[in-house]
Amino acid sequence: MSSPLSSIRPLSVGIIGCGNIFSAYAKGCALFRALSLKSCADLNNELALSRAREFQIAAVSIPELLADPGIDIVINLTVPRVHAAVSMDILRAGKHVYSEKPLGVTVEEGRALLDLAVEKNLRVGCAPDTFLGAGYQTCRKLIDDGWLGRPLAGTAFMLAAGPESWHPNPAFFYQRGAGPMMDMGPYYITALVHLLGPIKSVCAVTAMARSERLATCKEHFGEMLPVEVPTHFSGTLLFQNGAVITISMSFDVVGHQHKPIEIYGAEGSLVAPDPNTFGGPVSVFRRGFEEWADIPLIYGYEENSRSIGVADMAHAIQSGRPHRCDGRLALHALEVMSAFEKSHEARGWVEIENQCLQPDAFPLGLPPQVLDA
Ligand SMILES: NC(=O)c1ccc[n+]([C@@H]2O[C@H](COP(=O)([O-])OP(=O)(O)OC[C@H]3O[C@@H](n4cnc5c(N)ncnc54)[C@H](O)[C@@H]3O)[C@@H](O)[C@H]2O)c1
Repeated sequence: MSSPLSSIRPLSVGIIGCGNIFSAYAKGCALFRALSLKSCADLNNELALSRAREFQIAAVSIPELLADPGIDIVINLTVPRVHAAVSMDILRAGKHVYSEKPLGVTVEEGRALLDLAVEKNLRVGCAPDTFLGAGYQTCRKLIDDGWLGRPLAGTAFMLAAGPESWHPNPAFFYQRGAGPMMDMGPYYITALVHLLGPIKSVCAVTAMARSERLATCKEHFGEMLPVEVPTHFSGTLLFQNGAVITISMSFDVVGHQHKPIEIYGAEGSLVAPDPNTFGGPVSVFRRGFEEWADIPLIYGYEENSRSIGVADMAHAIQSGRPHRCDGRLALHALEVMSAFEKSHEARGWVEIENQCLQPDAFPLGLPPQVLDA
């Protein structure tokens, strides 16, 4: 009998954007036989050269990478405000694109990207792929198997003091396309849609604590960073299945004790892990029991497996099935995130127009590297 992997040929990958997150993807590509990392490019040639040397790949110019007929998928690791423009160029060059989050800065540019992909019969994938890890796949299995009963409500909290103390290039976090919602919201919104299905409407308020932030990272110590976006978002998400989630995302909070995500069902409650990680812990409290039970993780990819979303797309391209980190899921998340400011301005509920399907869960018992059952 042939192995489930024997029908998968590695697709050739190029990366545009060689900054802070590049290494995680380059290492991730090496984890999956469906991906073969060939070359990288950046506006900063020196940076591309040093990454290329480190990972023994080719450093090329951006036009060269796009013109290379040997490349099937381009991963876009540029900064958020140029995500959509760079992804458009990748599609125009006839290649599948997998973008870091968010898909774009506005819903309109995200929509245009998906329309072009349909026209060209190419795939658009988008981060995050953390929901494909062991932690969130285990949570999904618990919900799908009825451990909580019907999901009714929950909470999601990402409350932090901001990245200007640790990120080597912190300015973009306070520009359009970032802020706590566009930067961290994709992990939370995507994890929630994976667990509960798509979101129907949003009601929210937003705030900005300071109009400038003081960088304290060693690379930009003492610089004042202008703030273009709200730095505190607080709202309610109403899901198509009727569940109601209370959510806060902030770069203005010095300390807190909330769990990242909790889901409350008619028969039990779930504490889910940090959706910016692949592992646990996962715990459940069920009606009739007196304490929380720690749940062992029953899926693979507990360690950092960034690129699993790209590998899943490489499998999907070859077998013809949908990929899980689908551009339509990312567009849905982008519209939900954008709805917070819209709701604040309108002082009311905002309906979400770009709907998506709940991504397929992984089946239990997949052998390592097999993503296609
Ligand atoms: N750093 C992290 O921990 C992290 C984690 C998850 C996701 N991300 C996401 O990854 C993306 C990149 O983040 P980062 O931290 O690596 O940023 P970064 O600023 O360190 O790197 C971005 C790189 O993109 C290059 N670039 C910008 N515009 C370009 C263009 N038009 N064409 C080609 N190259 C261009 C820059 O020269 C830079 O080298 C962001 O969307 C971010 O949200 C970052």
